[in-house]
Amino acid sequence: MLVAGNWKSNKSFNESMEFANAFAKLDAAPEGVEVMIAPPAPYLAAMGATSLPFRLGSQNVSATGPGAQTGEFTADMLAGCGVQDVIVGHSERRDGHGDDDETVAEKVNRVLEAGLRVVFCCGESLQDRQADVHFDKVLRQLESGILHLPAAAMDRVVVAYEPIWAIGTGLTATAEQAQEMHAAIRGWLAEGYDAEVARAIPLLYGGSCKPANADELFACADVDGGLIGGASLDPENFQAVVAAAGRAVAAEASNA
Ligand code: 13P
Repeated sequence: MLVAGNWKSNKSFNESMEFANAFAKLDAAPEGVEVMIAPPAPYLAAMGATSLPFRLGSQNVSATGPGAQTGEFTADMLAGCGVQDVIVGHSERRDGHGDDDETVAEKVNRVLEAGLRVVFCCGESLQDRQADVHFDKVLRQLESGILHLPAAAMDRVVVAYEPIWAIGTGLTATAEQAQEMHAAIRGWLAEGYDAEVARAIPLLYGGSCKPANADELFACADVDGGLIGGASLDPENFQAVVAAAGRAVAAEASNA
């Protein structure tokens, strides 16, 4: 299980460091649970230079390499700052910041070339769901974003399903809705690669995931963790989501 926090454009630098200190004092991640936080980009180098109680993630990366690209930061720069994971294709970047399918695929390539792990986001709008094209939409995003990758690269790919209508709205996909989309993604991966690749790729759910619903979502067979926005901003709340992932791991082990 992987529980990843996406702070988006929230927190001052001091608040970010305070979070890391406070989080370190809480219960350590349970066995079988990885924890990641993606703070705002300006804080990455300083945070990466400290000993953190979580993996360090970036919310974005340049689609290009080094050169005359004012304001961009490359995957190699992120790696040099201690970043381990990079979120690519978040709907807030696809919709508001020009990350079209082609750009997203380039970003995926740059992240993997730098030796980092990519957290590839996909998800449908409310309109897509109402028009009953949500499966098509998500599978098309996967096709254009990651299907070009060789199977050997897939051990550094995480997929996050984030229905846009559930992000920051308080509306959560039901466990059934999350499970059926995750099963479709797993099936798509099995077809495009093979069953082993499909089984190994962590599939995260994101969209108003919080302590009150994390147990139910993480209990789904094909949900391997969460990408958490609002509920990752407070150390205790986030730790409660991490603890829910720990319970899911323990339950799975006892059922095996
Ligand atoms: P919320 O958890 O605030 O809905 O955000 C989800 C998200 O977009 C994480 O990337």
